[in-house]
Amino acid sequence: MRIITADTYEEMSKKAAAIVCSQVILKPDCVLGLATGDTPLGMYKELIKMYENREVDFSDVTIFNLDEYCKLSRESTQSYYYYMHHNFFKHINVKKKNTHIPNGMAKNIDEECRRYEQKIKEKGGIDLQVLGIGANGHIGFNEPDINFEAETHLVELDEITIEDNSRFFSSRDDVPTTAISMGIKTIMQSRKLLLLANGEAKAAAIYKTVKGKICPEVPSSIIQLHPDATMIIEKNAAKLLYPSAEQ
Ligand code: F6R
Repeated sequence: MRIITADTYEEMSKKAAAIVCSQVILKPDCVLGLATGDTPLGMYKELIKMYENREVDFSDVTIFNLDEYCKLSRESTQSYYYYMHHNFFKHINVKKKNTHIPNGMAKNIDEECRRYEQKIKEKGGIDLQVLGIGANGHIGFNEPDINFEAETHLVELDEITIEDNSRFFSSRDDVPTTAISMGIKTIMQSRKLLLLANGEAKAAAIYKTVKGKICPEVPSSIIQLHPDATMIIEKNAAKLLYPSAEQ
């Protein structure tokens, strides 16, 4: 596990964008796995700038998103479909047919999960998977007590996650309680992982991810076993890793 600390959110975002950009330069038809949430927003802004400056070309890139809420239409401004189009896809030259987000409105969710997993395999697997992390150590929507063997599947969201995500909805009751998520197995099969974290609220999860026991109670702890994982951690999220360091 490679750990890079950043002094600020901006520095974290720029470094993350540089890594994604070099992946696309090295393999223009690569498969990227992407995340939503607050954490990668700065990275998407940087990547858009790089695209506008002609430093990177997404025309042959394929994208798979980690997750999507169930029972929320794509048009809903809280859906991850909306988030990705609004914050990233519409600003770059990725082809719409090459962008994939699980369909949380599918009638048969199990079949949708199988279809999604199969599609990733058909594309040869994910070259670089970007991850955020929940305060409870979730990655994607793989909540504590996860089965490490799971592929893309239906998940029940943890109370902490519902609480955390209620900031995006008008009330806590509006937050969906289920989602489709790539499983830990899907994530771990990615050739490279890039996990981003900022803010003190993530410090305990980051500590457990890096120094804790590998256990299903902390889904992100499995990253210790990945052969090519990089974490870019802003200093407040890294504070428990280096308790004596001056902040
Ligand atoms: C989002 C995702 C989640 C988030 C995590 C952190 O696609 O998979 O695991 O990365 O909940 O969210 P933020 O970045 O909003 O703190």
